[in-house]
Amino acid sequence: MTDTRDSLIAAARTICRQSHSPYSGIRVGAALRAASGALYLGTNVENAAYPLGNCAEVSAIAAGIQAEGPGFRVSELAVWAEDRAGRSLAASPCGGCRQRISEFVSGSDVPIHFPWHDGELCTATINELLPYAFFCPADAAAR
Ligand code: THU
Repeated sequence: MTDTRDSLIAAARTICRQSHSPYSGIRVGAALRAASGALYLGTNVENAAYPLGNCAEVSAIAAGIQAEGPGFRVSELAVWAEDRAGRSLAASPCGGCRQRISEFVSGSDVPIHFPWHDGELCTATINELLPYAFFCPADAAAR
């Protein structure tokens, strides 16, 4: 247990209750600590045209980019998910969010926390979650 993990999980849990998820009934929250030290939060936002919905991680990353611009980087991230009754659910970042997170981590050791089955809390790096992540060589050179 770490203080930073627990406070980020608590923030993800609080923000997940703001979720707009009438279709799945799954409320997801993401809380990230930026390299700047700022905290950014996001929820999933679903849409009646299902593919238009977005994940909580997308909202949190967007909040960071909007506040800090292209220099924004993630130094720690937590996800939390609940059903409509407030029961916690296992929820690791989906494949698409792993790819998104990979573009913004401040380093290879950035901890990503998420609830797994039977109340377990897991922590993994993005390389563990998404080995051989795609990157665009041209974009990487321009950074
Ligand atoms: N969801 C997230 O917010 N993050 C993930 O990493 C996986 C899935 C959301 C999308 C949708 O609103 C709901 O969970 C059910 O799939």
